[in-house]
Amino acid sequence: MSGSDLVFKVSPGGCLKGEIRVAGDKSISHRSIMLGSLANGVTEIGGFLEGDDSLATLNAFRAMGVRIDGPDNGNVTVHGVGLHGLKAPSAVLDLGNSGTSMRLLSGLLSGQAFDVEMSGDRSLNSRPMRRIADPLGLMGAVVEGTDAGTPPLKIKGGQKLKGISYQMPMASAQVKSSLLLAGLYADGETSVTEPAPTRDHTERMLQGFGYEVRVEDATASLSGGGELQATSIDVPADISSATFFMIGAAIAPGSDVLLQHVGINPTRIGVINILRLMGGDIEVLNERVIGGEPVADIRVRSSQLHGIQIPEDQVPLAIDEFPALFVAAACAEGETILTGAEELRVKETDRIQVMADGLKALGVDAQPTADGMVIHGGEIRGGCVDSGGDHRIAMSFAMAALRANGEISIADCANVNTSFPGFVELARGAGLQISSQNGG
Ligand code: S3P
Repeated sequence: MSGSDLVFKVSPGGCLKGEIRVAGDKSISHRSIMLGSLANGVTEIGGFLEGDDSLATLNAFRAMGVRIDGPDNGNVTVHGVGLHGLKAPSAVLDLGNSGTSMRLLSGLLSGQAFDVEMSGDRSLNSRPMRRIADPLGLMGAVVEGTDAGTPPLKIKGGQKLKGISYQMPMASAQVKSSLLLAGLYADGETSVTEPAPTRDHTERMLQGFGYEVRVEDATASLSGGGELQATSIDVPADISSATFFMIGAAIAPGSDVLLQHVGINPTRIGVINILRLMGGDIEVLNERVIGGEPVADIRVRSSQLHGIQIPEDQVPLAIDEFPALFVAAACAEGETILTGAEELRVKETDRIQVMADGLKALGVDAQPTADGMVIHGGEIRGGCVDSGGDHRIAMSFAMAALRANGEISIADCANVNTSFPGFVELARGAGLQISSQNGG
């Protein structure tokens, strides 16, 4: 089915209730396949996200000769081939909508003996890749995109890589991870310094595979030439997917949800911090550490939210959660101001523009700015919005219906499957009056 075919129709009102386990963490799922494939031995993964994005990564490694059994109910077995065991794929690697696949693979494939070409859908093929191609070039890699710096990307194999010390100009876990993965193949030390903390799943998981990563202040470093040893990985539920239910429950009077087994890595919990600042009623329960990642159950009950100036230090920690947070702001009393979030303009869509357009179509006072948005909370009307093929925007507007005074119809929703297959059924079970239909 093409991305433009699926429409969500959500009746207004209702509330969210119950105990919910959302889909597996996308970032950790990608990395589990990548490191499992490059390890010596067999890695068992549980809780793997069976979404199109992480499956794109899985299929890319199968195409490079890795035997991978599953996924079967979230269980995947990866028969690692070692750092030098990948084989040239016989065709272009199609990574669909997945920026994480393309950027992390660019680093890892820069160190191989063979050439590779990677491409994606219309959204991915318009996303900026110089942010990885330039620093990888400094390491000696050859990564060529279009003149606009976008995919398809061609990576030339057989290059001798050398470690570099790189100061990232933007807070990006994908760039950091890409360079660290290239660093596995480089002579000497590769170190990456970030302007603000970003998700550190790559560093944690490398350590879980027995590879030494040194982290000091804002710098993560590793030396090439080591080996990865297979392990087992329990992927927690994705806090970015839990976000839709957290925000739905916060805005819909009478709601009370318990989100189970959610990853609460400190580099991912901006949404909890921001919602609490807005007056959200959130309890983090039963905290534990599983496979090197902190996990908890999160209870959210409805409350009256109020507008805030979102602290800029929270932006990278909530970078995927802003579409949903904008909906929370639309339901809050007063004004919410976001600044310092220009990265939102280069996600699966320009999330500042597409969200502002959709909110305005629903009668919300939302003013986009170069690096954020100003939203005055108030009434949400029913109406039609276009997700632009962006999974997180589609799910955010679905939750907005809980507080709307008419039906919300959302176009171009098929990409919800990239990160959250089963969203419609899970949301309906929790009380959202949602149906999905072929729009044509
Ligand atoms: C991700 C990093 C973030 C995030 C994306 C997943 C990752 O991207 O938006 O959904 O898994 O490393 P940036 O590195 O571009 O901020």
